[in-house]
Amino acid sequence: MTSLPRIYLDNAATSWPKPDGVYQAVDRYQREQGAPYGRGGYARAEHVRREVEAARLAVARLIGAAEPRRVIFTSGGTDALNLAIHGTLAEPAHVITTDHAHNSVLRPLTTLARQGRITLTRVAVSPSGEVDPAAFPAAWQRDTRLVVLTHASNVTGAIEPIEAIGRLARELGALVLVDAAQTLGELPLDVARLPIDLLAAPGHKGLLGPLGTGVLYVAPGVEEQLSPTRQGGTGSESELDMQPNSLPDKYESGNPNVPGILGLGAGARWLAEQGIERLRARTLERTVRLAAGLASIAGVRCIGPADATRRVGIVSFTLEGCDPHELAMMLDSGFGIEARAGLHCAPSAHRAAGTLDVGGTVRLSLGPFNDAHDIDAAIEAVRQIAGQGL
Ligand SMILES: Cc1ncc(COP(=O)(O)O)c(C=O)c1O
Repeated sequence: MTSLPRIYLDNAATSWPKPDGVYQAVDRYQREQGAPYGRGGYARAEHVRREVEAARLAVARLIGAAEPRRVIFTSGGTDALNLAIHGTLAEPAHVITTDHAHNSVLRPLTTLARQGRITLTRVAVSPSGEVDPAAFPAAWQRDTRLVVLTHASNVTGAIEPIEAIGRLARELGALVLVDAAQTLGELPLDVARLPIDLLAAPGHKGLLGPLGTGVLYVAPGVEEQLSPTRQGGTGSESELDMQPNSLPDKYESGNPNVPGILGLGAGARWLAEQGIERLRARTLERTVRLAAGLASIAGVRCIGPADATRRVGIVSFTLEGCDPHELAMMLDSGFGIEARAGLHCAPSAHRAAGTLDVGGTVRLSLGPFNDAHDIDAAIEAVRQIAGQGL
């Protein structure tokens, strides 16, 4: 680690820093509360239960879910996606996704396809990261059961038109699973209005909670088509040998990550207080500044939609003649800038953008605490590395 002041631009991997309330919630639980959730007949355990339910309510409010019990806590985005994918695909079926899909979608789907349990169609993404809803009807099959959309690519930041595609999928009778890993907490999201049956997201990125947290929202009635992928103790209906059918217990077996969930609740409340729309406007302005600054450097190629309103706070780029991993190391050691390099677990998005064969990109990703100084420092650092402005 360098002794330079830290400029963290890897918020698409996990957000940092967090609002103070997140640290306080985790610390308070660990030091003072320390009781199980939903399993103790004493006042402190009841207090913990109420706090976990308050966190569930905070997430439900943020996504417009009328019933908090439809928000299932998971250990991360991957866990939520695996539950949604494996839980809905018990019978042979056809699944559609796009080339934006992260490995946490692609790998479970490919595993099922290799086992002969599903067939899979991947809808192409344009080189700038656009997905055309008109491409979906051709992908359709009579047994299409699930459409998995990436709300925003973690490589290019490009936003998929989930509303148009989701409506089409619903008309044709498929379930719509949205991977909101790069949007929940950054873009306004209303599950009551949008055609979303299942919404999966990490709690540790845009929701500003700790690592080891995630959520899966299950729309009304969808629980009938979603089998639990784990069974175990829930602290409820303990006389039954079978998993309870009630929500959230159907999908939440075992002691949950209570300190993480309480931190996640504090993150969701902070976002609500600040206002997602206001934070989004700020991030958008900084994303435009970053993309324009990088694009002005000779040898730099930024990928993703030219129209910044169609992307989240992610700017991925290559520098001619420079390996992305080496570039990221130079940013860190020379300038204190922490950024991710490589394929970012989403190879097809790189194939579409033409960056697969050059080892991927360097990705700079913004969080609500990045200011204009961070952006300008990143642009200046790349300019210096590129050999300009020295
Ligand atoms: C688009 C996308 N989906 C899913 C995930 C997986 O989330 P997690 O790291 O919480 O398992 C990520 C994380 O990088 C992501 O960017």
